[in-house]
Amino acid sequence: MRASVAGEMVRTEARSGAAAQLKADVAELDLVEAQCTIAATLKSEGALTEAVLHLQAALRAWPGDRRVRAAVIDCLGDLQLTHAANALRSDLVGILESADLDLQPLAYPLACLARACPAFAALEALATDGSAERSLADWVEAGLGELASDRLFLATLETVVLRDRALEQLLTALRRALLRKWSCCCRAIIDEQLLSLLCALARQCFLDEYAWFVSEEEAGLLPSLAERAQSADIGEGDRAVNLALFACYAPLIGLGDLGAWPRHEGIAGLVKQQVRDVEVERRLALAIPSAGNIRDPVSKLVRDQYENNPYPRWLGCGGALEAERVADMLQRLVPEAVPAHRLPNGPIEILCAGCGTGQQVIEKALAIPDAHVLGVDLSLGSLGYAKRRALDLGAVAAEFLHADILNLGRLERRFDLIESIGVLHHLAEPKEGLRSLSALLKPGGLMRIGLYSRKARAGIASAQALLRNQGYRATPESMRACRRHLLDLPPDSTLGSMTRIVDFYSLSEFRDLLFHANEHRFSLLEVAAMIAELGLTFIGFELPAEVVREYRQLFGGAADLRCLECWDRFEEAHPDTFLGLYRFWLQAPG
Ligand SMILES: C[S@@+](CC[C@H](N)C(=O)[O-])C[C@H]1O[C@@H](n2cnc3c(N)ncnc32)[C@H](O)[C@@H]1O
Repeated sequence: MRASVAGEMVRTEARSGAAAQLKADVAELDLVEAQCTIAATLKSEGALTEAVLHLQAALRAWPGDRRVRAAVIDCLGDLQLTHAANALRSDLVGILESADLDLQPLAYPLACLARACPAFAALEALATDGSAERSLADWVEAGLGELASDRLFLATLETVVLRDRALEQLLTALRRALLRKWSCCCRAIIDEQLLSLLCALARQCFLDEYAWFVSEEEAGLLPSLAERAQSADIGEGDRAVNLALFACYAPLIGLGDLGAWPRHEGIAGLVKQQVRDVEVERRLALAIPSAGNIRDPVSKLVRDQYENNPYPRWLGCGGALEAERVADMLQRLVPEAVPAHRLPNGPIEILCAGCGTGQQVIEKALAIPDAHVLGVDLSLGSLGYAKRRALDLGAVAAEFLHADILNLGRLERRFDLIESIGVLHHLAEPKEGLRSLSALLKPGGLMRIGLYSRKARAGIASAQALLRNQGYRATPESMRACRRHLLDLPPDSTLGSMTRIVDFYSLSEFRDLLFHANEHRFSLLEVAAMIAELGLTFIGFELPAEVVREYRQLFGGAADLRCLECWDRFEEAHPDTFLGLYRFWLQAPG
């Protein structure tokens, strides 16, 4: 009896211990959110330094909390950062190690910070005034060591695609100077510090898929660079430099099996990025199931494009910070949407049609409770990348299928949500793609679609035509030459303005932007007709609040946000509104 009373007491204590822990967890939870909200409010009031200091204190208090790191990215994302104290710099180096966040929004402030370094002006002058003739010694004298010893700059090169004209021009010229130096010495041409910069530069070149311009002189030197990089007869230091320099021009995996790699931290990072991860992706791709052969001639062309240039090569995982149901996601993205039918509670089946490299699949698999997410794509290379990232990030609810959207008729599953962003406009008949997808919706199921706008892309369409007329083609060499041509033009000319678009800065995105194998563009009236023909209901656009306000100013406070004819008129007056895409939600009959 006594024993049982004691046992009961222990159990009670255990329970109250758990309750106390729960209370503490809840308090912590609220506190983290409160701190992030305070920082966002400080930023909106213009108290930027205070907002950043606040978040730095939160980073110290909750070092592993994803929400605090996300709040720092949010806070700095659009800032022209020209100074950062040492503590902030080292916090940013830590944040750049986060695999669970989309780090790309930091590219802009970090590029601004790099450009603000004292040596930048002298280095830029070297890069733009016939730098091909400049020796490496000139670069060192101009302050290259300052960049090479900046841990934050190296981490930036390793983790985000720089989308910055001036930095691209500088780093392309530096790469050329290093290769020239190598060509006359063929030996360990650089010290340890420069080797770390070279390795980081090679990581950046892989991230942007070798988009930077390669001169004829450089192209002529690459075969002997590859040969020497493969040679076993040189010392470890020489080999490391050769390999890192080679990796600035092409992925290391192209060198074949080299046995042991030089022991160097930078080289180890390169080998993981350019050999091990690629091998894993290739192996995983082979195990992805297929549904039917790809027979449609346009699908074949499009598949070839994305096999060569999987899109996008994303690095971190964005998406919702907290678990959210599909209804919450709709509410977050289209606050005024009123679906005609509610989604059922319980397990949710999601299809991402044309999932590319899987970012959207993985974000949903991680954020939506009880979701099972199927990603379908034409490109096995993209799916291999997606599968590797899903495994890295523990997205167990993500599954992948190699198939053409047009061949999904035999799929027995039906879906609560089908998402297809930036895909249907690449089909020969986009309406047939939408028809095929809508047949897979459960009654009352939702669709999230992204399509190109003809009005918004008018400038891009003219640039595409001009570049084709000038003889540029979708080969890597031609696209690199084309990018160089565009970088040399005034940024406000029709063609030069392409360098202001984020897609300009990596090869797969550049190809998508200007050299796509097949691209349709739509007016909203055409979208309306297609939706009506398929018996779907338009629920709303994903748009910033200020656009919705302007719409209401034009059409009155009670104007229906689902009126596509009205939006067509709105777009006439504001043609850049849907520059990204028309992103909208549809619903099947209940
Ligand atoms: C521009 S990417 C968009 C990828 C992804 N939805 C995103 O937003 O990041 C277009 C993707 O659609 C895929 N795609 C195009 N046509 C397709 C089709 N008929 N069936 C399946 N996938 C297709 C391509 O292979 C490519 O990966």
